[in-house]
Amino acid sequence: MADATQLSQAAVLLRSAPMPEDAVKVKGYDFNQGIDHDALLESFARTGFQATSFGQAVDEINRMVGRQAGVSGIQPSARRKVRTTIFLGYTSNMISSGVRETIRFLVQHKLVDAVVTTAGGVEEDFIKCMADTYVGDFHLSGTALRKQGINRIGNLLVPNDNYVKFEQWMMPILDQMLHEQQNEGVVWSPSTMIRRFGKEIDNEESVYYWAYKNDIPVFCPAITDGSIGDMIYFHSVQNPGLIVDLVADIRAINYKAEFSKHTGMVILGGGLVKHHICNANLMRNGADHAVFINTAQEFDGSDAGARPDEAISWGKIRLDAKPVKIYGEASMIFPLLVAQTFARRVHPKK
Ligand SMILES: NC(=O)c1ccc[n+]([C@@H]2O[C@H](COP(=O)([O-])OP(=O)(O)OC[C@H]3O[C@@H](n4cnc5c(N)ncnc54)[C@H](O)[C@@H]3O)[C@@H](O)[C@H]2O)c1
Repeated sequence: MADATQLSQAAVLLRSAPMPEDAVKVKGYDFNQGIDHDALLESFARTGFQATSFGQAVDEINRMVGRQAGVSGIQPSARRKVRTTIFLGYTSNMISSGVRETIRFLVQHKLVDAVVTTAGGVEEDFIKCMADTYVGDFHLSGTALRKQGINRIGNLLVPNDNYVKFEQWMMPILDQMLHEQQNEGVVWSPSTMIRRFGKEIDNEESVYYWAYKNDIPVFCPAITDGSIGDMIYFHSVQNPGLIVDLVADIRAINYKAEFSKHTGMVILGGGLVKHHICNANLMRNGADHAVFINTAQEFDGSDAGARPDEAISWGKIRLDAKPVKIYGEASMIFPLLVAQTFARRVHPKK
């Protein structure tokens, strides 16, 4: 009996190895300090779970934003040539949501160097310059909405008339682009099309207006999978002949990765946007920095759910990198992340 008790005591009270000197102690925010959002976000790193991943992502983004290829005392005008090339990727719904304004800020202030998105992420930025998207409810009936000509994206609502306005805006631009292709030998690719749309929209609220102004390429290899594709289809029936060159863009994005001193990836959501950026970084044997924010899991073998470690196995992230994945919904997380990182470049901490 005594032996049995000694055995269970030894099992329950097993002695611990000492924790390393630099081990971080778990400690969350104390609201007795008042409501200090900055201190609250800083406390996330020591809070645990996804809050700690958020803190690690803040450090990783600040490393990529601050890194400058071993050059010191460089003029701000030349900094762009030596700083880390940052690829920002996001799924279409980020532009449907208010994350669009956070993305616009990053592009407006030249805080990222290349953008990858899907077709909805292009067209909805322009459509928002013509008509509004509204907050609705995830549970609104599809049948009732269809009868009213209102489309639902999660808990957002887009009146169908918005797409009518988009068509009226886009058709003459496509006519002009076809004319330039046929008469001036212009070869259009998705990125040069988006650049042209950004010029034509001439609206400071637009992400792609600023991408055009700041010469930041926007890659969208699946540009036809959205309303833009519907417009290109209708246009091709009325006025056939427009050709879109995908090869020019795969060269452009791969060169951008290959010839950068250092690269970083910030990717919201998964699917095409995630893979396209990671694959470009394979051309340089991996990105130096990476932050993924998405809801996807890896158990189904999807690329969307793959952790950064899987990308390391492919040579898409460097062996010595400290990549971070935050599991969560980006509309909440990304603006907070920008507040602690990129936005500090424009609004330094007092
Ligand atoms: N507004 C729209 O969403 C919209 C509009 C028109 C066309 N489309 C088209 O639909 C197709 C599929 O869209 P997609 O490739 O942009 O992505 P998607 O919406 O299919 O999402 C891909 C994956 O990203 C992750 N993800 C998506 N939203 C997230 C969020 N808020 N937070 C965290 N993770 C998130 C999820 O794992 C998801 O499975 C594209 O071809 C696109 O052009 C979308």
